[in-house]
Order: sequence, then structure tokens, then C-alpha cells
Amino acid sequence: MTQTITVIRGDGIGPEIMDATLHVLDAMDLGLQYEDADAGLVALEKHGELLPQATMDSIRKNRVALKSPLTTPVGEGFSSINVELRKRFDLYANVRPAKSFPNTKSRFPSGVDLITVRENTEGAYIGEGQSVSEDGATATLTQKITRKGSERIVRYAFDLARKTGRKKVTVVHKANILKSTSGLFLKVAREVAAQYPEIQCNEMIVDNTCMQLVMRPEQFDIIVTTNLFGDIISDLCAGLVGGLGLAPGANIGTDAAIFEAVHGSAPDIAGKGIANPCALLLGAAQMLDHLGLPEKATRLREAIVATLEAKDSLTPDLGGTGNTMSFAKAIASRI
Ligand code: NAI
Ligand code: MG
Repeated sequence: MTQTITVIRGDGIGPEIMDATLHVLDAMDLGLQYEDADAGLVALEKHGELLPQATMDSIRKNRVALKSPLTTPVGEGFSSINVELRKRFDLYANVRPAKSFPNTKSRFPSGVDLITVRENTEGAYIGEGQSVSEDGATATLTQKITRKGSERIVRYAFDLARKTGRKKVTVVHKANILKSTSGLFLKVAREVAAQYPEIQCNEMIVDNTCMQLVMRPEQFDIIVTTNLFGDIISDLCAGLVGGLGLAPGANIGTDAAIFEAVHGSAPDIAGKGIANPCALLLGAAQMLDHLGLPEKATRLREAIVATLEAKDSLTPDLGGTGNTMSFAKAIASRI
């Protein structure tokens, strides 16, 4: 089988972790072809636009992309190209697993195995009605939640539970305060949950969820929630299992899917060659599952675990003295 995937090398640590990830994938004999495409700051410099048509065309054609993080300016400047890609391809499900691994600097070296399913196309992140008054004294933002958007993400979470044999879905909301938006999400979630009687469903308010995650993360199996809450919760979950270097994410739509790390471009360590490549590698494992190659995905995950177990060439975030490429080579040698 030959499958072409779009590869976006990204900003900051992006190119370093992509080199490492492709090194490991190349060792796996997958028959994958890579088609490079630019997005974000790199694209702006090279092509004069943040999201070139050629990149859109490549993703549309290949339907699968592996993407490194893209930098978004804080508080001003252009809108997020990550959000834009999710919007343009209607990648409504952001699927972010967090699992305990051996020999990390985690407070939970075992017992965490959960997936955050984050709604990816609505809520606070779409930038509708974003404005600041002329005198700079008042800022506004519209948050929109729809029945359709809520239904498909909750259904995705329950179908994922069915498919993967998971037993419980926790619906995370703030419907006590955000009665319209979070209220609609919760109402629809209850309706969908009723159609999956074999899967346990519980509801939890988002602030309590954060506390529960830190105290007793083992109670969670699948979390389904709206866009902003899912973004924050998935970084929290990454922290539970040893940091952002271990947390991958898939952005899934009907016509395309983009696989990435949960983390950003990490400007504080960019160019030093010390970024942990595992988050993007685990994103690549999600991609292999999506491509119908679950045995290969399992092999990749097992090679990562074996390398962590052997403490071979681990990057500094895991307490090691290795670097991005030596870690990748150690993983590739166990494939
Ligand atoms: P970040 O996730 O880039 O970094 C947070 C902390 O985690 C930093 O201390 C960083 O060094 C560390 N870290 C992240 N990835 C790591 C890795 N692979 N190995 C070792 N340490 C790692 O978050 P930050 O600094 O808030 O954002 C930086 C930029 O990234 C911003 O422009 C933001 O918009 C963008 N971003 C992009 C995302 C994407 O492309 N999907 C997601 C999140 C942020
Ligand atoms: Mg985030």
C-alpha cells in the first residue's frame, strides 16, 4: 500500500520533532509518501500568506496530515492557523489520549488512561463577535454552541467508547453558570447518552473536574467537552502523565484528519535539539490507527514504552540527558 500524507513541519521545535518522527516512521516500512506543505509563519515568509492554497489542496487530496505546532501571536496579530485548519476542514473531533508511561517525571507513573474528546469547531475559539471598543475599555466575544455540533461530538465520544471497549463517558460542562451554551451542550449530551445504555455516563462541572483529575485521575475513562474546556483539560492531563512531551492529539473530520502533538511550538527550547519527540510520535500512532494500520500503531507505541523502560537517550523533560534525535534513534532501534 502506498499512502501519501501531507507533512507540515511547523514553527519553533516543529521541524526538530518532525525530523525525529519521520526518522522513526521510516524505520517502520509503512510505504508512506510525504508531501511537504507550509503553514503559519514559515508560509508567510516563503509564500506571503499564512495558509497557502497549495497546503489546503494537499490536505484535501491526501485527507491525512501530520502537523507540527504552529506559533500564534498572543493578544494581537493573526488568528490561529491551527484553529483555521480545524474550521476549514470541519475537523470537529479533537481526540487527546493521556496515558501513564514508565520513567517519566509524572506524579502518576501508573493508573492514568483517559481520552479527552474536545469539540473543535464551536464555542469560544471561533472568534465570532471578537471586538474591542474604540476606547479600548470593553472587549466582547460571542460563544456559539449548536445542537448539531454538540450531538456529533458527544456521539463521537460514545462511538469511540464502543469501538475501544471503554466503559465510561464523563460529560464536562459549566451549565450551572453558562446556562445557554453549556446548558445546550449538556441537554444534547443527555439525549445522546440515552442511546448508549451499555456505557456509563456521568456529568461533572469543569472546575470540579480539574480538582478530580489531579486527585483521582483513575476515575476517568473518556471525557467529552466543549472547545475551551477541552483545550485546558488536555494540557492538565498531559501534566498528569509527565508533561506535554507525551501528549498527542488527532483532529478528525469526515473528509480529512490532522494528527499533531497537544503542545505548542515551545519557543523556550526551540533550536536546542532537546524537545521530546514522543507527543508527535504518538500522534503518528493515532494516524496509523486512522489509516487502518493498528498493528503498526501498536508496534510504535510499544517501541516508545520499551525505550522509556530502558531509560535510553531520554530527553531532559523526562529527566534524561539525551536529545530529540538520539531519543528517536533509540525508539527506531526497538521497532
Ligand atoms: P507550549 O506547549 O509550546 O510549551 C509549554 C511548555 O512545555 C514549555 O515550557 C515548553 O518548553 C514545554 N514543551 C512543549 N512541548 C515540549 C516537548 N515536545 N518537549 C519538551 N518540552 C516541551 O506552549 P506555549 O509556550 O504556551 O505556546 C507556544 C506557542 O505554541 C504559542 O504561539 C501557541 O499559540 C502555540 N501553540 C500551538 C499549538 C498547535 O500548533 N497545535 C498548540 C498549543 C500552542
Ligand atoms: Mg492547547
